[in-house]
Amino acid sequence: MYFCGIDVSTTATKALLVNEEGEVIATATKEYSFETPKPLWSEQHPDLWWEATRVALRSVLQQSGINSSEIGAIGLTGQMHGLVLLDRQGNVLRPAILWNDQRTQKQCEEIHERLGRERFIQITGNPALTGFTAPKILWVKENEPEIFARVAHILLPKDYVRYRLTGQFAMDKADGAGTVLMDLGRRAWSEEILEALEIPIDWMPTLFEGTEITGEITKEASQVTGLTAGTPVVGGGGDQAAQAVGVGSVTEGIVALTLGTSGVVFDSTDHPFIEPEGRLHAFCHAAPGKWHLMGVMLSAAGSLRWFHDSFAPSLSYEELVEPAAQIPIGCEGLLFLPYLTGERTPYPDPFARGAFVGLTVRHSLAHCVRAVLEGVAFGLRDSFELIRSVGMTPLKQVRLSGGGAKSLLWRQILADVLNTELVTVNTTEGAAFGAALLAAVGARKFPDITTACEQIVRITGCISPNQAAVEQYEAIYPLYRELYSTLKPRYFQPHFAKEPLQ
Ligand code: XUL
Repeated sequence: MYFCGIDVSTTATKALLVNEEGEVIATATKEYSFETPKPLWSEQHPDLWWEATRVALRSVLQQSGINSSEIGAIGLTGQMHGLVLLDRQGNVLRPAILWNDQRTQKQCEEIHERLGRERFIQITGNPALTGFTAPKILWVKENEPEIFARVAHILLPKDYVRYRLTGQFAMDKADGAGTVLMDLGRRAWSEEILEALEIPIDWMPTLFEGTEITGEITKEASQVTGLTAGTPVVGGGGDQAAQAVGVGSVTEGIVALTLGTSGVVFDSTDHPFIEPEGRLHAFCHAAPGKWHLMGVMLSAAGSLRWFHDSFAPSLSYEELVEPAAQIPIGCEGLLFLPYLTGERTPYPDPFARGAFVGLTVRHSLAHCVRAVLEGVAFGLRDSFELIRSVGMTPLKQVRLSGGGAKSLLWRQILADVLNTELVTVNTTEGAAFGAALLAAVGARKFPDITTACEQIVRITGCISPNQAAVEQYEAIYPLYRELYSTLKPRYFQPHFAKEPLQ
């Protein structure tokens, strides 16, 4: 028997097949782009996801040569928080408004006014942030009333793909919590929040745990994807929860540190723990009956990608990063603030901005690259410190993954800045792999997700902090910490940015 994971990300949809031993037998990716029709906006048409899903599924089936009837179950994961609006017939009403869209500051304030910020955090585990789904719904209501009048269903990106695969309106609880419309403790839609925001509960899909079966592949979907009709599709999870499952972060104290486009520090919790000021996200886990805390940095490896594309597009990443290893720690006084797309943790501020501070004529391309690597590591330390400070459980192990973790230099900088041993694992296929494991549990190959992770995920390497470097970074970190508040009054809010906020 095989299991399939599908990851509907912001840049591509990836399909992956694993066997019963957890070995990946085929992967396929179909890329797409997103639109920024106005400053602060980020949108994508759901048709792109469905088309890419069909292409990726056909490709993995062909590559692997298996008969699709051998697939025991399918798990879905994807970019979180994106708002998909459908009419009564299931037609898409407008392009999806994505997680990295920053237009909804006014609606976030409105939500806090209607419910009280504290009460809102008490119920959902989080403040309303521009990236989350609830303020996006209010934005459409206020700005596109003719579209809002036709809404009958609200979905998240991967759940639109689920709808096309199974005909069901369903969502897993991990991703559901990221709408900030759920009662975190009860793992159910919050009537209080929905009523206060005037969102009919019948627009919301049925909620499922990550390993529960939400529906089956329809005949129509079977014809276009090559999957077998009747194959079960489990709940799955938002990309961060599925990524955490994929590296085995399903137990308290096993922290997943992901250095992807965004940077995430993720810890599982056995109880719905809420950071009272809402500085950490508190969501349900894709592991049934569990929750998690996470700090999200919006531009982590995304900062390096920006630097590469803007200043050294002709170099490979290896060529760009290698000379940075020769630059002394602290880059001879150069600091980088990674808030290139605003920030979430520890500063929930869509208008936070990036900066190089301390440039002199001595600074070369390699200094700037090292400053980017160090700045991102400092940003991740902010989240890490917060998770450590709430002191839920002692941290037992930090598991590092994501594209940026391929760089040995970046891994070492991270271990030194965090002053923590980091381990790498054998499962490097990310969220899609986690979704496939959730599917394997749904198909009863494993009794539960903890057992599945114990049997499949193995430690492959370990990076220890270098004490001399740790001490140097300890001295620089407070300087980095000061920069946000020092620069905040200078963050430029261009007149065009104000327009969508009026
Ligand atoms: C998590 C978040 C991002 C997206 C990226 O809260 O917004 O990690 O899920 O795909």
